Amino acid sequence: MNFLRRMLPQALKLSGRSALPLLRCAERWADVIPAPPPQQVKTLEQMPGPSAAGFVWDLFFRRGLSRLHQLQVEGRKKYGPVWKASFGPILTVHVAEPELIEQVLRQEGQQPMRSDLSSWKDYRQLRGEGYGLLTAEGEEWQNVRRLLGKHMLRPKAVEAYDRTLNSVVTDLIEKLKLRKQQDSSGVVTDISAEFYRFGLEGISSVLFESRIGCLDPVVPVETERFIQSINSMFVLTLLTMAMPQWLHRLLPKPWDTFCRCWDYMFQFAKGHIEQRLQEEKQKLARGEQLEGRYLTYYLSQAGMPLKSVYSNVTELLLAGVDTISSTLSWSLYELSRHPDIQNALRDEVQSVMKGRTVPDASDVAAMPLMKAVMKEILRLYPVIPANARVITDKDIKVGGYLIPRNTLITLCHYATSRDPKHFRDPDAFVPQRWLSRSEGSHPYASVPFGVGKRSCIGRRIAELEVYLALSRILIHFNVEPAKEGDTVHPMTRTLLVPDRQINLRFIER
Ligand code: HEM
Repeated sequence: MNFLRRMLPQALKLSGRSALPLLRCAERWADVIPAPPPQQVKTLEQMPGPSAAGFVWDLFFRRGLSRLHQLQVEGRKKYGPVWKASFGPILTVHVAEPELIEQVLRQEGQQPMRSDLSSWKDYRQLRGEGYGLLTAEGEEWQNVRRLLGKHMLRPKAVEAYDRTLNSVVTDLIEKLKLRKQQDSSGVVTDISAEFYRFGLEGISSVLFESRIGCLDPVVPVETERFIQSINSMFVLTLLTMAMPQWLHRLLPKPWDTFCRCWDYMFQFAKGHIEQRLQEEKQKLARGEQLEGRYLTYYLSQAGMPLKSVYSNVTELLLAGVDTISSTLSWSLYELSRHPDIQNALRDEVQSVMKGRTVPDASDVAAMPLMKAVMKEILRLYPVIPANARVITDKDIKVGGYLIPRNTLITLCHYATSRDPKHFRDPDAFVPQRWLSRSEGSHPYASVPFGVGKRSCIGRRIAELEVYLALSRILIHFNVEPAKEGDTVHPMTRTLLVPDRQINLRFIER
């Protein structure tokens, strides 16, 4: 390098205005500079990692399934940025460095695959159900993605949901008032449960443009059963993935329960879709005009077979519940412990709202601290702590290793977003870090919605929903911890969720 630095000015002097002598000179240098030694590409066999027995021990005897996010951090420390582990019949390569995660995602191809070993897919095959956006692959995935993208990714299309979502937020505020009144010290216990219902009502309103009563004083039994089914299904996802098919006959309970959860989720979605399509038919018969602005309508109008409408709506419903609940629960948990940030955020909301009480999409777009709070919450508590990719069309090189095609690659987002190398004081809640350019972290160090073609299609809806809900909650309440020093940690249940109830005191303003 030094040699080049000394030679370059000389070469430019020699060259005058013509580039030709410079090129000749460069050719001569190329002869002089010794070629770098060829990079040794290592194989999977040379990759470090725990023994199969050690990993199973960690998973099943050290509560590893609920600590998978923590095992990422431990694995990174013990083995470095790339390591392998066997999980039942599955060999997976873990990648826990932003640069290397970027290397994987840049090689994912036109129709990326998240995982081909999913028990979610096995269920669909067994029952003859269709695939939704979460589980579909190839052409089928691309077609649905294109169609849904028009209504879920374009900013203008998403902004149009603000009225619908605001009516759900109004019910949430009423429900919180009711819940706080039921306790003499204004404590709402298990705030996540309330946010599950809010998440389900929110995504239902976007999908059906009608309300399904999740936030009514008495919650419909089907709603609670649907939420319960999602919970149990997530608890059983990793276990059913790790169990080979033949073990299902020997130990049938996990697989049977898992299937029953999915059965109910499909049944719930089908019931709502059929009811909604029936209403449209009746309108048409009465000669009324249809002006559907909801996702189920768009899907059915695009000529999508009913079987695919069912599976897509089921998967969207499911995707919109825990993600929203977890993000809102952790946001209020941290804001209640940081009254200074809570006050600053409230000031920001009020200064944008200028005396109005219900924000719209353009208001929340003008709230930088609000956006920073959500980014920081998802850095600390990424709802999807580990994502995955399977590259099917070629072997790829990552971090000096050759990873054969069809290998399951786990992207350890929790480990990178809690790494002190990338975020100063990584376990602290510091939303301001996202406001100053000086703390520029690697762009792949915290990517809670994923990156690229297969990234979260619900991102804009989720952001709008969280911003609208947080703004209104802060206008109506001061939020405090129910008990000082009551610490809640995250745990993995496929998704990252609070390990115990979050209880908060709501003080009406
Ligand atoms: C804070 C909230 C949310 C977070 C953090 C989140 C995160 C993610 C992540 C990490 C992925 C995988 C991306 C990848 O593989 O690269 C994903 C996929 C997906 N998300 Fe979300 N999500 C959220 C909310 C939502 C909501 C509200 C919906 C529905 C309206 C939704 C629907 C989906 C769907 C359908 C996919 C699959 C996309 C595809 O395979 O093409 N998500 N999400």
